[in-house]
Amino acid sequence: MIIAIDGPAASGKGTLARRIAQHFGFPCLDTGLLYRAVARDVLARGFRLDDIWAAVSLARSLDPATLEDDGLRAPGVGEAASRVAGIPEVRAALLQYQRDFSRKPPGAVLDGRDIGTVVCPDADIKIFVTATLEERARRRYEERRSQGEDVTYEEILELITNRDARDSGRGSAPMRRAEDADLLDTTKMDIETAFDAAVGLIKRKISQ
Ligand code: DC
Repeated sequence: MIIAIDGPAASGKGTLARRIAQHFGFPCLDTGLLYRAVARDVLARGFRLDDIWAAVSLARSLDPATLEDDGLRAPGVGEAASRVAGIPEVRAALLQYQRDFSRKPPGAVLDGRDIGTVVCPDADIKIFVTATLEERARRRYEERRSQGEDVTYEEILELITNRDARDSGRGSAPMRRAEDADLLDTTKMDIETAFDAAVGLIKRKISQ
C-alpha cells in the first residue's frame, strides 16, 4: 500500500507522514530531504545553486545514506532545496529512488510536493495537507523562535510566500493537489486532531 502525502511548507505534512507510517508499520520517506541533500552537496563543493550541471551530476550521484545528516533540516537548506528542485533533470535523477522506495512491500508513506501527481500517481491513498498561509507562517515562526532564532513573523511570512510561489510555479512537477487526493486543512487542528482525521480518511478509503 502506498500512501502519498503532499502539501506546502509548514502544513504539518512531515509530522503527519511520520505518525501515519508509525501507525501502519510502514517506512516513511521525507522526499524533501533528497532535494535538501542535493542543495547541501552543491553548496559544500562551492558551486552556485543555479549551476545546473553541478546540481544534476550531484543528484545523480546522491548517496541516500547521507539523508540522515541533521544539518539537512536547517531553514536555509530548505530555501536552497526549493531552488535546485526547479531543475527538471534534478527531479528526473531523484525519481527512481523514490519509486523504488514506494514499491517495497508491505507499503510505504512518502511525503513531498509531487508524490500524488508524479512520483506515485497510482498511490492507494493521497492526502493533500494544507493550512492558511498565516497559520503556516505562525507555526514556523513559533518553531524558529523556540530554537532561539531572532526572526520576525513578517520575515517568515515572506519566506513562506516566496517558497510557495516557487514550488507551485515551476514548470516541472509543480506542487499541486492531485485530482483524486483528499484535502486535509489543518488550520484549526493540532497535530493529534490532524492525525486522527488522516487515519479516518485512510480507513474509509481502505474499506471502500
Ligand atoms: O518539504 P521540505 O521543506 O523539506 O522541501 C524542501 C524543498 O524541496 C521544497 O521547498 C521543494 C522541494 N521538494 C520538491 O520539489 N518535491 C518534493 N517531493 C519534496 C520537496
